[in-house]
Amino acid sequence: MSSAPPLAVANERAEAPASILLASTAPAWFAAAAAQWQLLLVDHANCEKKAASTALALIFSYADDLSLTERLSRLAREELKHFEQVQRCMRELQVPFLRLKPARYAEGLRRAVRTHDPGRLLDLLVCGALIEARSHERFVGLAPLLPPRLGEFYAGLAQSEARHQGLYLRLAEQRDVQAALPERLQHFAQIEAELATAPDSQLRFHSGTPV
Ligand SMILES: [Fe+2]
Ligand SMILES: [Fe+2]
Repeated sequence: MSSAPPLAVANERAEAPASILLASTAPAWFAAAAAQWQLLLVDHANCEKKAASTALALIFSYADDLSLTERLSRLAREELKHFEQVQRCMRELQVPFLRLKPARYAEGLRRAVRTHDPGRLLDLLVCGALIEARSHERFVGLAPLLPPRLGEFYAGLAQSEARHQGLYLRLAEQRDVQAALPERLQHFAQIEAELATAPDSQLRFHSGTPV
C-alpha cells in the first residue's frame, strides 16, 4: 500500500466515492456480512448513532465556525433519521437488540488524529470523509446480497454516504490553511485501508477481513 500514488484531492468529488479508498473490501467480508445480516444491522444502528454524535462533537468543538456547525447540524439530523430507520427495520425483521463492542476501526483512525489545531480539525474531517466512503462502498456491495427490504434500504443509504463523503471533503478543503490535505488524506487512507482489510476476528460494519 505504501507504493500507492498520492491522491489527487481536486478530482475526488467528481469521481465515485470509493476513489478515496486505497483498498477494496474483501469478498469474504461481504459473504460473512450477508450471512450475519442481523448482527450487522445491530452494529449498523450503532454506526448511525456514532455518525450523529461525531457531527455533534465537531459542532461543540468548533462552535465559532458557523458554516461548519450549520452543515454538520443538518448531517447529525440526517444520521439520527437513519438510526430511526435502522431501528424500524430491526423491529420489522424481528432482530433483537444486542449490546456489541465497537469495531477497532474508529479508534484506529482516531489514534492518528493530531491533538492541536489547525491540524486536528483537518484530520477529523478527513477521517469523516473516509468513514463515509467506506460505508458507501459496503452498502453498495451488500445491497444485492440482502433480503429485499434491507437491500433496498441499503441502496438508498449508499447515496447518502456518497453525499456525506463530499461534504466532509469540502469542509476539509475550505479549512486547509496549511495546504496539508493531500498529505493527510494519503496518510489516513493508508491507515483506513489497513483497518478495513487486515484480518479481523470481529464482524462489524467497519471490520476487517474475517479470519
Ligand atoms: Fe447514515
Ligand atoms: Fe453518513
